Amino acid sequence: MPRKVGPLTGWFVVAAIALVAWSRLAQADAADQALTAEQRQTAETIYANQCATCHGSDGNGLVMEGTDRRAPALNGNPEVTVPYVDLTVRVGRMPPPESKPFDNRARHVLYDDEQRRALVLYLAERFDLAGAIPEPPEGDAAEGRQIYAANCAQCHGSTGAGGVAGAGAWTPPVVTQGPVAVAEAIREGPFEMPRFGPEQISDKEIGDVAAFLQEVAAEQGTLLGLVELNPVYASGFAFLMALVVLVSALWVAGRPTLFPDSDPPRDSDAGEHQGENR
Ligand code: HEC
Ligand code: HEC
Repeated sequence: MPRKVGPLTGWFVVAAIALVAWSRLAQADAADQALTAEQRQTAETIYANQCATCHGSDGNGLVMEGTDRRAPALNGNPEVTVPYVDLTVRVGRMPPPESKPFDNRARHVLYDDEQRRALVLYLAERFDLAGAIPEPPEGDAAEGRQIYAANCAQCHGSTGAGGVAGAGAWTPPVVTQGPVAVAEAIREGPFEMPRFGPEQISDKEIGDVAAFLQEVAAEQGTLLGLVELNPVYASGFAFLMALVVLVSALWVAGRPTLFPDSDPPRDSDAGEHQGENR
């Protein structure tokens, strides 16, 4: 009899150990995603003070103070996903200036990476948001240049400087946003921006576009790059250069004829100095 029970007990023990180990692992996995008490507190404070005033403490959206317009719901809104919330906060589009909540020009990044992560995890849990933060692959800048020119330049400008995209719409600069924001924007299509599915721009191509924009950002570290960043600065710079060229040309062409009185004869010059010395 003991011979039969022995191996069975052995298998039972092995199975029990495996089960315990597996449940431990599963717990560790869940703990990675779940909020710590500290993160929850951080996120609750941010939400209550800087989001709920417009989106409501229940996330259903409120009529905003001083307007008759309602801020969109974050709860039960299929548009609102984990990457979309992350993007709006990451680029500083949310929270907007209280006086102009629909004006998309203002970008104020208020939270660091830890605060943003806590807020996004908290909202994902609270409003049961779908999706995850993308992890775009390393890409090829030369390929990215083509994809950017074909899909993005018409709105964000050939060097990603942003500006006016026709019909009075304003677009933000995109050069310094980094790969995650680029991936989120392409897939989510924030506000007036169109959304691009994987059949239009693949994940690999998102990496390429991000690499191109990073290359542009690096180039813009140089003086000419900075000038190129903003058309207003660029035209100002061009004007200044034209002025410098004009003045130098006039100088070379003969300063005495242009400013006859500013170059008095040497005799009286010497006389004046002698006078001063006395
Ligand atoms: C001063 C009011 C105000 C505050 C504060 C505010 N929002 Fe918004 N939010 C808006 C308005 C208005 C829109 C819609 C803007 C538009 O369509 O141009 C919006 C849109 C959004 C959207 C996109 C929703 C959609 O359906 O497209 C998200 C996500 C969002 N807000 C998250 C947040 C978060 C997170 C916070 C807090 C960190 C926050 N907002 C704070 C007014 C506000
Ligand atoms: C039809 C015009 C249009 C096209 C095409 C377009 N975008 Fe946008 N994009 C916008 C607008 C408008 C916003 C700002 C939305 C808002 O916050 O109101 C935006 C926002 C963004 C942002 C977030 C930056 C921020 O500060 O809010 C990124 C990144 C971005 N776009 C990248 C791209 C890339 C990459 C492409 C090409 C694959 C592209 N966009 C194509 C109009 C466009």
